[in-house]
Order: sequence, then C-alpha cells, then structure tokens
Amino acid sequence: MNFLSLIESKRDGQPLAAEQIREIVSSCVAGKIPDYQMAAFLMAVFFRGLNTAETTALTLAMRDSGDVLEFPKDKRPLVDKHSTGGVGDKVSLPLAPLLACLGFRVPMISGRGLGITGGTLDKLDSIPGFKTTLPTKRITEIVQTAGCVICGQTDRMVPADKKLYALRDVTGTVPSIPLITASILSKKLAESLDALVLDVKFGCAAFMQTKEQAHRLARAMVALGNECGVNPRALLTNMDTPLGRAAGNWLEVKESMACLEPHVCSRACESAESWSANSRSRPQQVDDLRELVLTFATHLLLQTSKAKSPAAARKQAEDCLNSGEPRRKWDEMLVAQGANLAAFSKKLALDHTAPVVVELKAGRAGFVSQCDARLIGEVIRDLGGGRLTKDTVIKYDVGLDRIAKPGEVVKAGGVLARIHAADHGQANAAGARLKAAFEISARPPRPVPLVAGVIK
Ligand code: URA
Repeated sequence: MNFLSLIESKRDGQPLAAEQIREIVSSCVAGKIPDYQMAAFLMAVFFRGLNTAETTALTLAMRDSGDVLEFPKDKRPLVDKHSTGGVGDKVSLPLAPLLACLGFRVPMISGRGLGITGGTLDKLDSIPGFKTTLPTKRITEIVQTAGCVICGQTDRMVPADKKLYALRDVTGTVPSIPLITASILSKKLAESLDALVLDVKFGCAAFMQTKEQAHRLARAMVALGNECGVNPRALLTNMDTPLGRAAGNWLEVKESMACLEPHVCSRACESAESWSANSRSRPQQVDDLRELVLTFATHLLLQTSKAKSPAAARKQAEDCLNSGEPRRKWDEMLVAQGANLAAFSKKLALDHTAPVVVELKAGRAGFVSQCDARLIGEVIRDLGGGRLTKDTVIKYDVGLDRIAKPGEVVKAGGVLARIHAADHGQANAAGARLKAAFEISARPPRPVPLVAGVIK
C-alpha cells in the first residue's frame, strides 16, 4: 500500500475503496504507519469527510481490528447506551444497574475523558479498588452473572479505535461526523448488542455545538447502526448546562448514588418543582439526571419490545428505580469488579474528599439564567479533574457540586456552587473564572427541553 497516495487522494476529496480503508486500519494497528502520516490522514478526513460507504467500511474495519464479545444465548437482551460526551454526564453509572434490574444484559464498554468532556472510566477510577480493565472472559462472566459491567475496551477489543482516538484527541480531529460515527459504532458493534441508545449532545460543551450538527451525527449513526443490525435509536440532548448538580469524577459518582436511592416524587411534581423558587432546598440529586436515566431505560424497553407502550415502559423503569434494587445491583457490580465496598461506603459518607472546599456566591439575587457547561468543564479540567496532555495524572476528588441550575432562584450571597480543589490558590483561581459561568437575571429564563429530538 502506498499510504502517501491515499492521504493525497483524501486530501483532494477522492473517495476511497472499502479495501483501501481496511488496509489503512490494519496497517495502522500493526504499527506500519507513522503517527504523522496517520494524523495527516485524519485531518484530510476531517476536512473532506467520508461518504456512507467509506464510513461503513471504516467502522467495520475498526470493529474487526480486534475481538468481538460473544455471549451465550439468553432471554435477556444485550443493550447499551453511549454518549458523545458532556460535562457532568454521569448517566451511565445509574443506568447500567437499572437496566440489569429491568432484565437486560449490559456490556457497557466505556471511555476516558476527551477534551473537557468527562469519561465514565475516570469517574469509576475514583472508587477504591474498582477495576476498569478486565480480560474479555471476565467481562462476559460478569455480564452473565451480575447483568452489567462497566469497563474499558481490552487491548484486544477495537485496538484501531484506541490508536485513532488518542491521535484525534491531540490533533484537533475529534469533531468529525464520520470519525465519531466509526469510533462509537465500532466499539458498540463489538459488544454484539440487541439494541443501542445513543445520547448525541449539542450545545456549548458538546463536540457538536449546534442542534443541526448533532442531528446530522445522530442520523449518520442511526443509519449505519440499522445497516449493521444493532437496533439503534438516538436522542438529541442539551449540553449548554452541566447535567445534574455535580461535575468532577468522584463528585459525579456520589451524585449517581443519590440518583439510585428510591425516590417518591411523581414525574409531574418533579418537573413543577425543578422550576420553582424552593427547588434549592431539594436534595443534591437533581431531576435532569434522573429524567435522562429513566428516558434511556424507557427507550430500550420499547426497542426490545419488553414494554408495549411508552407509558408502560416509563412506569416499569420508574418502579424499578424506586424499588432500590438498582442500588443493590450497583454494589454487586462493584464487588464483581474488585471494589472495596467498605472503603467505598466510608468515602461516600464524607461531605468532601478534596483538601479544600469553597463556596462560589451570587453577587445579586435573581434567577439563574445561565450555567455555562463549557467554562465549568474547562475549570474542572484545570483543577486537575481532566487531562491537558495524555500523561496528566487525574485528581479524582476535585470539581463542583451544589451547582445552581437555570431557572432556580438565588439570594444575594447564596451558593452558586461549591468548588472542590487541591489547595486554596487553585480554589480561588477557579472561583474567579467561574463567576463568568453563571448569569443571574430578574426574570426566569425559558425552560430548555432536555431531549430535543429522537432519531429512529
Ligand atoms: N466518544 C467516542 O467514543 N468516540 C468519539 O469519537 C467521540 C466520543
């Protein structure tokens, strides 16, 4: 293969044949293509795009670059959810045990933080003893016994994505529809799923900033997912504001545990309350997280015909979450993945685990009208909660909690967020930057729908 001429073809907008794409992927995995040439190829794809046939060929070649998970026949459907990434996006943590309790098997192969977006594996690494790296055999064993596993891809699963993902992260080639499509679907196809729900985020902290771009990405992923028989659905969700009230690895695990606690409030009372003046007095579990968790579970119940109607599916999901069973399932998964449950519970009981906590206070009274997820994501990354280079050592306990969300009333001097930091200097620097993330107005902002569309 003359790789230089393939880079030139793509640079000039020529389509590549499936055979050429397979060759590129296998040579890349075999280490036969230097990073500088692969980076040039990715940049050519970023600007020129890939047509449907090329994207399909890339996705399948990436899937076939390693092992595909194989599961015994079982009446429990194999399902998963994957997000394109956001700030405070911890949905996977409560969703996996909820799905297992609803009678699914969930081989949730997750990723690390990319850019300012958090990664499920980084969050899980904050749990004492928890192992996110498991051999293929153990992944299938845990799925068969506990019903759910959340771990990273093994060295032998989709190695092409591991390599390309790392290169894209440092070459500005992440926000490309064909590259994201191939990256996500190659991993999901390697899980042998019966149904998949995709969370395609748009907004200031998402890779796809506009709803139109997110819509195009969702359509591309759903079309390819259908072609590959993975029974996909995509939800377009807003990422202008962090999801939930906490952002930062350990703080998000803590909030996920609150989401798994039984909850007695009905849906109607939740949505009314979340826009009322006294919603700041509610516990630190916030409704948008719970709402998304239940929404994804509802879709998967419908996709797999485990429920007859959207209302029945929603009720099934709510009843299950409220039963407290998914919280017990979470502990079962933790033990199966090597966590120290006693140390986890002890850590969970602490108010904070970062050395310093300071409150960010509102300068005036009014309605929170903006809570900028991008700026919050950047500040958390700079506090040490995310990576600036691929060698950054993450500080798991830093981040924000008690985040005031748009629509809420704050008093002058009221808390907009708590900043968890490694020292006072970093906490104060973060506080100075975060003032610009919040806007307070005399009037409440217009409510923004959490889910802006569903693509089937
Ligand atoms: N998540 C992935 O797994 N891949 C991407 O390219 C972007 C988000």
